[in-house]
Amino acid sequence: MNIHALLVNRFSEALQKMGVEDAPVPVSRSARPEFGEYQFNGAMALAKQLRQKPRDIAEKIVEIVELNDVSNKLEVAGPGFINIHLSDEWLAGQCESALADKRLGVAEASKQNIVVDYSSPNLAKEMHVGHLRTTIIGDAVVKVLEFLGHKVIRQNHMGDWGTQFGMLLAHLSDKLQEEVAETALSDLEDFYREAKVRFDEEDGFADRAREYVVKLQGGDEQCLALWEKFIDVSITHSEEVYKKLNVSLTRDDIMGESAYNDDLANVIADLKAKGIAVEDQGAQVVFIPELADKEGNPAVYIVQKSGGGYLYATTDLAAMRYRSGTLNADRTLILTDARQALHFKQTEIVGRKAGFMLETQSYEHCPFGMMLGSDGKPFKTRTGGTVKLVELLDEAIERAGKLIAERDNDLSEAELNEVAYKVGIGAVKYADLSKNRTTDYMFNWDSMLSFEGNTAPYLQYAYTRVKSLFRKANVDMASMPVDISLVEKQEHALAVLLLQFEEVISMVSREATPHILCTYLYDVASAFMTFYEACPMLKDGIEPSVRDSRLALSALVANTLEKGLTLLGIETLEKM
Ligand code: ARG
Repeated sequence: MNIHALLVNRFSEALQKMGVEDAPVPVSRSARPEFGEYQFNGAMALAKQLRQKPRDIAEKIVEIVELNDVSNKLEVAGPGFINIHLSDEWLAGQCESALADKRLGVAEASKQNIVVDYSSPNLAKEMHVGHLRTTIIGDAVVKVLEFLGHKVIRQNHMGDWGTQFGMLLAHLSDKLQEEVAETALSDLEDFYREAKVRFDEEDGFADRAREYVVKLQGGDEQCLALWEKFIDVSITHSEEVYKKLNVSLTRDDIMGESAYNDDLANVIADLKAKGIAVEDQGAQVVFIPELADKEGNPAVYIVQKSGGGYLYATTDLAAMRYRSGTLNADRTLILTDARQALHFKQTEIVGRKAGFMLETQSYEHCPFGMMLGSDGKPFKTRTGGTVKLVELLDEAIERAGKLIAERDNDLSEAELNEVAYKVGIGAVKYADLSKNRTTDYMFNWDSMLSFEGNTAPYLQYAYTRVKSLFRKANVDMASMPVDISLVEKQEHALAVLLLQFEEVISMVSREATPHILCTYLYDVASAFMTFYEACPMLKDGIEPSVRDSRLALSALVANTLEKGLTLLGIETLEKM
């Protein structure tokens, strides 16, 4: 049930009846409950065309629009707004249907092929916090799109190719005289550092590293075998993180930079043939007048270095062509930090000129801000190093465990461990998901693990509250009678909110902004707490029909919280 879409429909029908075609149909949420839940604001814009006063037009629309089933009161306000008050009967009926539906009343969207490029760590090093946001936000977006019925193709565009691998392979080939690859690479950070020191200081090592690059790119078998060993171990490291994070990426989703290697020469040939790439000081470049500087000089986008080497950009052009052509993507979403925004803007302009995508196919870079420490600077370890993801996640679980143990509970040891895991990981993920992704955000253990406010523990706790309510009432949520009637204003407010789930989900799918879903779930949990205080269920003297109606509403709260948290990749608990 998408209330907004339904209202837009009904108002466009009304406008058509008045002879108005193609006019915008602006329907928005009302700012205050006394103005109803929604507002139609289109009358003012029609004044000129219809040569009437906006208020008169609004009155006319109120007469014509068919909303008797949905609304019990339409009122014209101010210069010509129409306030829409949703009726209790209609809301109750919609809540009943949502409760009977596994999809909670959320309709499937018309199906699209959607490529989502996310996580995409560089395999030369261990996954660090820089890849946390793309991994978590990307996975939530993917789950929301799949829930809406889209075909989602995950693309983990891992950085598994490039010059630094020459240095790593040269070092690895020496080490393998003594150890097996897994041992040599047990700590990728150390391994990288050792290789770098040799590269900078050891005579002849840099030359060997360069030879390795040439051999690797030339397809030398021994060299490729060594490379495969390296990336296999490195991928295993990232898989460990994915598992701990409860992220849905698997090996099958990997389509690393190396996968495009054979196509890069074709990309350049194509760009040259179309006159898009031209030679400039030995390199192949594309001039982009659309992105000129103040003096009018076009931006320069290099696609091949003067020595013949290819770049990140070349690979992204090949990836674009593959996704649009072979994978038939209607939309391509790429999640990286905001510093890459210009790169993707340029890539899109160049790729579109080259015809690597159809006009109808979208290319959407979804940028996000940085994760900052409590000092407001990029998040680092106490000694200033990059924070390894695995270690950060382990710390989260440990901290959550301590907090839970301090609380009053009757959990067994095993249950406590499970709660610690789900709360700890949930807290880290939610802290990230709940912020508007385009801004930087400050990583703070205390606020993310708090049981108050817009946090995972608060929502997980709200869910267990509903569950324990049902245990106390001794009612089975799945087979209870469903007959809802809304009387109190807290019931009304809660019902409206619960029926806005689809609106929220479709916004998240359009904008790749899970924080909207977080805010929504927080509002649902808070509205439930208010309702719970005001509308008793288990007190003596409550009519059975009132009790059952309220329990049914609570069941819809539980289902909504569970579905919403699952889409965000956060697990729920029966008790905590
Ligand atoms: N590996 C890159 C990084 O860590 C991100 C890749 C994003 N995807 C892409 N198609 N360029 O910054």
